[in-house]
Amino acid sequence: MERTLSIIKPDGVSRGLIGEVIKRFEQNDIRIVAMKMLHMTQKQAEGFYAVHKERPFFGSLTQFMTSGPVVVMVLEGNQVIAKNRELMGATNYKEAAEGTIRRDFATDIEKNVVHGSDAPETAAFEIGYFFNSFELVG
Ligand code: RTP
Ligand code: MG
Repeated sequence: MERTLSIIKPDGVSRGLIGEVIKRFEQNDIRIVAMKMLHMTQKQAEGFYAVHKERPFFGSLTQFMTSGPVVVMVLEGNQVIAKNRELMGATNYKEAAEGTIRRDFATDIEKNVVHGSDAPETAAFEIGYFFNSFELVG
């Protein structure tokens, strides 16, 4: 069993896609073991995306991620890190496979509806960034 962090980004929340995203997780044998809605501060977003701080899109990305509430979730399942990335689709929705969340709903390379951890180490960091152990159900 593996765990990963998922975020429904501000565009997904404001466009009423929370249920749609969660439905896809539930229909693909992914269990939600923690969930909350929050509105990140600029500092929180910069800390979360610290790996990207040298990237040209860092300022824009952190501004976008603080533009409205997000839903953060811990997902659990067999190989769930890769499985979630597969359900999400490529970063650029134009390159994302048919039937993926980003292909179906993203409007822009940045406004791509969902975030998902990309490796066990980043998953551990990202889960700990938003949740303590008491907030994860058994
Ligand atoms: P994420 O971290 O959000 O799950 O997305 P990802 O792994 O597919 O993509 P990553 O390279 O980690 O980039 C993080 C987020 O930054 C925005 N982005 N904008 N303007 C651009 O060229 C650009 N490239 C990336 C996207 O919101 C991307 O999901
Ligand atoms: Mg990433």
